[in-house]
Parts: sequence; C-alpha cells; structure tokens
Amino acid sequence: MPKMTFIERDGTRREVDAPLGLSVLEIAHKHGVDIEGACEGSLACSTCHIVVDPEWYELLKDATEDEEDMLDLAFGLTKTSRLGCQIIITEELDGLTVTLPQATRNMMSG
Ligand code: FES
Repeated sequence: MPKMTFIERDGTRREVDAPLGLSVLEIAHKHGVDIEGACEGSLACSTCHIVVDPEWYELLKDATEDEEDMLDLAFGLTKTSRLGCQIIITEELDGLTVTLPQATRNMMSG
C-alpha cells in the first residue's frame, strides 16, 4: 500500500498508510491529523489547505479553476498549496509529503 507523510505544525513527521483512491483529507481524518475539511470535499471551503512538498507538487494533476478560487481564500497560501480533498492517492504518489499550513481560519480557537 502507498504511504504518505504529514508534517504537522510542530514539525512532527507522521508517515501513514495512504490507500489508493482516498483523498489526502480522508487519510488525514483516518489518522487524526489536524486538517479540518469543513465541507467534506465539496470545494466549498478552504479548510483542507495543505502545502505540498515541491518535489511532489509537480506530479499532481493541475488544480481546477474551482480549486484555485477556493485556495485564494486560504490563509498562508504558498506556491505549492493545494486543497487536501482534491488530491487523490495513486501509485505515483507513493511517498507524497505534505505540510500543514501554519495559519488557518481556526487559529483563534487553537
Ligand atoms: S474540504 Fe472543503 S474544499 Fe476541501
């Protein structure tokens, strides 16, 4: 089974199983990684924002216009930002590494 790594806000690296066909958001939720994903993957929020390792960013399918629009609303946007619910694990993405963004809309409650 493919694996992927989440780098948490405190720098902790967590390598987890990444079943084919699941989104990065679904995998995060399975493992208790702190990505909100308020709209459950329907491209209606930006709370599943993650920062993709540059070496992996190139391998991802391009973001759709809808995804780009939502990303524009995300805090801490970077050049390799994507929405976690839109990245679906394939064989090529075995080893994918993503970082949780430093600031989110929930920073007041955290
Ligand atoms: S969970 Fe809302 S856009 Fe990804």
